[in-house]
Amino acid sequence: MKNKHLLTMDALTVAEIDAILFDAHLFSTIYKDWQFPDNHRVANLFFEPSTRTQYSFESAQHQLNCKVTTFNEQTSSVQKGETLYDTVKTFEAIGMEALVIRHPENEYFKHLVDKINIPILNGGDGSGNHPTQCLLDLMTIKEEFGDFTGLKVAIVGDIQHSRVASSNLQAMEKLGMISYVCGPKEWSKNLTNYHPLDEVIEEIDVLMLLRIQHERHEATMQMTKAEYLSAYGLTKERMNKMKPEAIVMHPAPFNRDVEIDSDLVEHPKSRIFKQMENGVYVRKAVLKRAFGYEFPTEITK
Ligand code: CP
Repeated sequence: MKNKHLLTMDALTVAEIDAILFDAHLFSTIYKDWQFPDNHRVANLFFEPSTRTQYSFESAQHQLNCKVTTFNEQTSSVQKGETLYDTVKTFEAIGMEALVIRHPENEYFKHLVDKINIPILNGGDGSGNHPTQCLLDLMTIKEEFGDFTGLKVAIVGDIQHSRVASSNLQAMEKLGMISYVCGPKEWSKNLTNYHPLDEVIEEIDVLMLLRIQHERHEATMQMTKAEYLSAYGLTKERMNKMKPEAIVMHPAPFNRDVEIDSDLVEHPKSRIFKQMENGVYVRKAVLKRAFGYEFPTEITK
């Protein structure tokens, strides 16, 4: 079997994206209780904090009948100077069959893929890629609109430091969506599709807010929270300008009253907690792909 790493959205074809989203849909409907026929040993190696990605992978793994090992960097031999490669090779040697890895270094996986013989599922690399977040975002959009072609999406905020933005921009272009990047112009890397949010708010189908990645900034942000919300965030006034069928997304964790007015987090247009629910189905789908399983009965779209 070809090694089914999941590293970047760029590496997936449209057909592969469709297949993962279809499996995620089946996991959310008729195959909610389906499990792998064999127990597989999987380990989750998170070198950066995480709630959603780490624990929704863990939930997906338990639901699929996997044996789960959770790596703790603070009590591991990383503290004695062990490299990422040697840590990963160790997990392969002790019998793990797939690894989920989040690491602060962009494209940390480049040093690993040719030398590791078990699937690596990227749980986020620095400001580079976050493919499972992108897939769960796509699942949420597809559930809402049925298709991607021609949908208009504004991605708002800290584009430069956001792996969620990079993965989504890669995928949206492939899928025929029209993307705008909004927010502070200096965080949009001179992207040609930059627009002030107020220019596009009335025409977009999806508003995708981003967390300000303070931990990746070299300088402290000079604006107050209230100033950021007023200039770039989702205020009640902006929400009222959105199309009736438009939706609001955020990968979370969100900063209340910074990227979004706290009262709007659970607004009827918000799909923020739906995204988290879909994260479990998508992660089940990418684990199924990694282990090469088919559902017991073939279902066609
Ligand atoms: N969206 C996301 O990646 O959240 P966590 O950092 O909590 O995993």
